[in-house]
Amino acid sequence: MRFDSPAEQNVSDRMKVLGQPLRRIDGPLKTTGMAPYAYERHGVAKDQLVGYPLGSAIAKGRIVSMDINEAQASPGVVGIVTTLEMERLPKVDWNVAYLFGGRDIQHYHQAIAVVVANSFEEARAAAALIRVEYEEDQDAMYDLAAVRQERLSDDVEPIDDIGDFESAYASAEVTLDATYTTPGQCHAQMEPHATIAQWDGDHLTLWTSNQMIEWSRQALATTFDLPAENFRLDSPYIGGGFGVKLFLRADAVMAALAARKVGRAVKLALPRPMSANNTTHRGLTIQRIRIGATQEGKITAIGHDNATNTLPGGDGENGARATRRFYAGENRLLINRALEIHLPESNAMRAPGETAGLMALEIAMDEMAEKLGMDPVEFRIINDTQVDPSHPERQFSERHFIECLQRGAEVFNWASRNKAPGSRREGAWLIGHGVAGAYRDAPAETSGARVSVRPDGSIRVETDMTDIGTGSYTIIAQTAAEMMGVSLEVVNVDLGDSRHPVSAGSGGQWGAASSTAGVYAACLALRKKIAERLAVDPEALEFSEGYVRYNDQQTALSELASAGSITAEDSIEFGDFRSEEYQLATFGAHFVEVAVHATTGEIRVLRMLAVCDAGRILNPMTARSQVIGAMTMGVGAALMESLAVDTRHGFFVNHDLAGYEVPVHADIPEQQVIFLEGEDPYSTPLKAKGVGELGICGVSAAVANAVYNATGARVRDYPITLDKFL
Ligand code: MOS
Repeated sequence: MRFDSPAEQNVSDRMKVLGQPLRRIDGPLKTTGMAPYAYERHGVAKDQLVGYPLGSAIAKGRIVSMDINEAQASPGVVGIVTTLEMERLPKVDWNVAYLFGGRDIQHYHQAIAVVVANSFEEARAAAALIRVEYEEDQDAMYDLAAVRQERLSDDVEPIDDIGDFESAYASAEVTLDATYTTPGQCHAQMEPHATIAQWDGDHLTLWTSNQMIEWSRQALATTFDLPAENFRLDSPYIGGGFGVKLFLRADAVMAALAARKVGRAVKLALPRPMSANNTTHRGLTIQRIRIGATQEGKITAIGHDNATNTLPGGDGENGARATRRFYAGENRLLINRALEIHLPESNAMRAPGETAGLMALEIAMDEMAEKLGMDPVEFRIINDTQVDPSHPERQFSERHFIECLQRGAEVFNWASRNKAPGSRREGAWLIGHGVAGAYRDAPAETSGARVSVRPDGSIRVETDMTDIGTGSYTIIAQTAAEMMGVSLEVVNVDLGDSRHPVSAGSGGQWGAASSTAGVYAACLALRKKIAERLAVDPEALEFSEGYVRYNDQQTALSELASAGSITAEDSIEFGDFRSEEYQLATFGAHFVEVAVHATTGEIRVLRMLAVCDAGRILNPMTARSQVIGAMTMGVGAALMESLAVDTRHGFFVNHDLAGYEVPVHADIPEQQVIFLEGEDPYSTPLKAKGVGELGICGVSAAVANAVYNATGARVRDYPITLDKFL
């Protein structure tokens, strides 16, 4: 079905199952270790061998020679694929780096060989015996700050150039000009990239861990120059993605190449130490922000100049993204300098662009409020806008940012905070409070599903949608239960298989809204099919308690399907009205309380509150889990996370979970999430929007602003480690 106008009242509005805070239906499987992840799918392919990858030891240059003789003769080795035995494989959409093939080295730990052996240990031991001779380029650049400095005078096409920023800024009554830096960040997901590959003639099956099944199926078709139909991907459980599994990556390509070479199934996981440099990271940023305002606090000029690292062809981490739409201001100059440097591939990580951008912008807003002598909540309220500042002909469909701020301030008791930085002390600890705004676009994409009523009265939903730990299984089951009038227990959801209808997949905060809308469409098609069987108008049917009721009659779904399952399939497509007339987005406000040890500088986050405006919330429990997870990740970005760059050799030094530190929920005693009541009829028929990426947006700046309020030291360089303010 097409979604061409705002959603009217419909079946999903019953909200008997939707909107309930239900536990994840896949939770027991996961907590008991029964959910099989890609590397653990022992039974799926017979005679599995194990592959182990080798990564390049240089960041830029070429391979002169590879000697695999010793590795080949090593115990248990069945075969070796090296990058020299094939041309560079074609680059696929979305991936920026080339994944395998040829002599050229584009980044450190680029995959250059895979050893296949009977056991993991044998494969790993043999991989260490491969001798590689490299020729290293001497002109490689690994230092973002240096490259930015060199290229500051480059002419870059602005993202937005509205009004006359320079004059407005020059004549503004109050101004701020500050530069902020954010480091590279690692997704640090629990489950590494892993794939089991098996060929059957020219057909390939991949049991893998991937957020976007159809993108990867298409990418495989390009990589192996075969029709997309020849590929099957299956990815029912994913142990974290955060964007690092959006695309086809080297694990799948190497497993497929290896399996083809040895003629047997091969499984391969990227070893953790190889993950950070072989796959993707959130790009580094250096962001200069200039804001001009009137004495009364009205922004008249806003400039955001973001510099970030990328391999050729990418955008890096576009920090200016959120600034396009977040605050009013007639004169705007927004720039993204995606600078080619020779670090590994920077690409999407949870709320790409907004996360790093708001880490900077929301400190700038705090600094500006201070210059104006205004409450930072008030300053943001004054500069709210109901019109998209980057497209003034476009309204926000729903925007309740002011309510997020006001509600949060009230619940958090913002008014009682200490206004003079560095002057509230409790024992050995300095106490501080900070606030920041959150903004993230709310896309929705084409998404399909197949729904069946089965002879036992149960409902089965099939779609290639993925669950990356977000709760897709549960909200999809809730949607089907709501639409077909059954209880959640009799809904069976099968995800992540490319044999199912193509969904929007999990990415860009579009997954929940899009995939449930696709299931809604398929359920409507199923209801219609049932109505045809009963020869009644679909509008006259009521589905409840496992029955379909019409004209004083009722029939059990099990009876209807007694002769065989009734199945329908449909996909939702979104009309242009969504984007032409309206900007869809989600908003939030974060409030944070920190304690900073007056002697040691240790920072503790004591209390966090997020107020989110994200349309209808399909499941307040899974949504809350998404948001508190994101808040925790935002604390990591504020205080701990940083990929340390070796600027001589071009790699991330702390490429494992021992050296790359992340916080856990237990580090933060109190995390509260409030969802504003509301629906967005412009979003989808279910009136819902995404929330998982909104949750991280702005968090880190709220922490930074709280640290400033506690200590009086303004740190503009993340992460805020004690050496920067002691
Ligand atoms: Mo997301 S960074 O699009 O998985």
